[in-house]
Amino acid sequence: MRAGARVEAEAHREATDELSEIIVNNARRIQDRVKELADAVKGATTAPEFHPCRIAGCAADVMTSLRRYAADKGVVLQAEGLDALPVIHADERRLFNALYNLVDNAIPEVPAGGSVTVRGSVEADKEVLVLTVADTGKGMPPDVRERLFTSGVRSNKSGGTRLGTKIVKDVVAAHKGAISVESAVGVGTTITIRLPLTHERL
Ligand SMILES: Nc1ncnc2c1ncn2[C@@H]1O[C@H](COP(=O)(O)OP(=O)(O)OP(=O)(O)O)[C@@H](O)[C@H]1O
Ligand SMILES: [Mg+2]
Repeated sequence: MRAGARVEAEAHREATDELSEIIVNNARRIQDRVKELADAVKGATTAPEFHPCRIAGCAADVMTSLRRYAADKGVVLQAEGLDALPVIHADERRLFNALYNLVDNAIPEVPAGGSVTVRGSVEADKEVLVLTVADTGKGMPPDVRERLFTSGVRSNKSGGTRLGTKIVKDVVAAHKGAISVESAVGVGTTITIRLPLTHERL
């Protein structure tokens, strides 16, 4: 084989391997989301599996899954401060589902030209990791905001299951974390998740 052809074949193989990895990863993520949805419908609580977890990688996977949906709506997905976060003790698969639902909810609310940003920081004295999902979207009136993470949540989508926010709430609870929402009509919404850095004491 010519040297040039060999280099080309190698590049082709690498591209194929990368694509296969993306497909396998996506298939696993879809399976995890279906399981989380099934649990949410049944009201079941599967015990979380805590392992060392890199939030940056988890959020990157969420963005890879939703980037096309966002791009079709003219919305930019951004990550800030995630690479600098420490490795935390968490159930990465379930955190993916929580972040996925938050970003998935934000995208349709954002007018073209806007953004959805996942930010991370640490409150070292409290050993808490703070994750926010902030959008430049339509925002929520107080009555919608107040019901958001309750059993009285409303959906503004035809066919909306209202399970997205339930899943987020369940995942945060499984991590003994806390969730809060700030929203202003016409300005946007920021959802904040606070998670313990470690679960050794649980
Ligand atoms: N970032 C946001 N900005 C404005 N409204 C939001 C935002 N996130 C959630 N909401 C409101 O909360 C409602 C409930 O969200 P939830 O994820 O529980 O259900 P859904 O998104 O309507 O349905 P599904 O998750 O099945 O698509 C949404 O329909 C929307 O009205
Ligand atoms: Mg939703």
